Amino acid sequence: MNRLLNLLNTSIGRKLVVAISGIFLLLFVIGHALGNLTIYIGPSALNSYAHWLQQSPMLWLVRLGMLAIVTLHLWLGIKVSLENRSARRIAYQAGSSLWQRLFEQRMLISGLIIFIFIVAHVAHLTLGAAADATFYRVDERGFVDVYARLVTAFQTPTIAWSYITAMLLVGIHLKHSVRALFQTMGFFHDNYFSLFEGLSWLIVLFVVIGLCSIPLAIQFGWLNHAVAGLSIPSLTGPRFA
Ligand code: HEM
Repeated sequence: MNRLLNLLNTSIGRKLVVAISGIFLLLFVIGHALGNLTIYIGPSALNSYAHWLQQSPMLWLVRLGMLAIVTLHLWLGIKVSLENRSARRIAYQAGSSLWQRLFEQRMLISGLIIFIFIVAHVAHLTLGAAADATFYRVDERGFVDVYARLVTAFQTPTIAWSYITAMLLVGIHLKHSVRALFQTMGFFHDNYFSLFEGLSWLIVLFVVIGLCSIPLAIQFGWLNHAVAGLSIPSLTGPRFA
């Protein structure tokens, strides 16, 4: 614990913690995208995946861990960014690069908006704020019908397009952070520039295209057939009995 506190007292330590917490968040987003893409296999696959997560004995441990990681990442990210900004006031006269300033501004603004998105998103799809009865529907196995939740939510154009906009911001944030991550961890080298550049594009495109495709597919009506015509069962299904 003391070591962590000592680390947080140094500028390089704070950058390292931002990078390491960023790796966990990146892995979470990749996993989340993979899990959500099971929607293309069908309702049963997505609901089984969600059920597996919800029944995990580790669920609350992972949730609390993620909350701590997001808080650490955001708090230290803002701190590092402000420190860089004041350091640059001195370096400014010496000609600090416009690119560096734009980079930090983009990271800070996109990071803050993504944080607001995560709060709204958890309230929307996990807690069911302002949800109707579809939110509580269970499938024939008694699993929460997350498929119906998504189709119902993304049929509303403002919700679908807000998610798509948020995913583009996630993409901007990830694109810069994956590259910065390689640099902070000391992996970035001029000789391997195109390799790391290619790798960061691959990760970002997978996450952004994968996640944007879901609200888009629902807006175009490609996934809606599985819930079309289904009546919403009363809240006396197996889960609510
Ligand atoms: C179109 C894109 C996205 C879709 C369709 C989506 C879908 C979902 C769904 C269905 C849930 C609820 C799972 C359940 O309660 O069983 C959920 C929860 C969550 N999502 Fe997303 N998500 C998207 C993007 C993101 C992004 C980009 C992030 C992070 C930056 C994120 C972070 C979370 C978190 C933290 C939870 C709460 C997990 C928990 O229950 O503890 N999501 N998402």
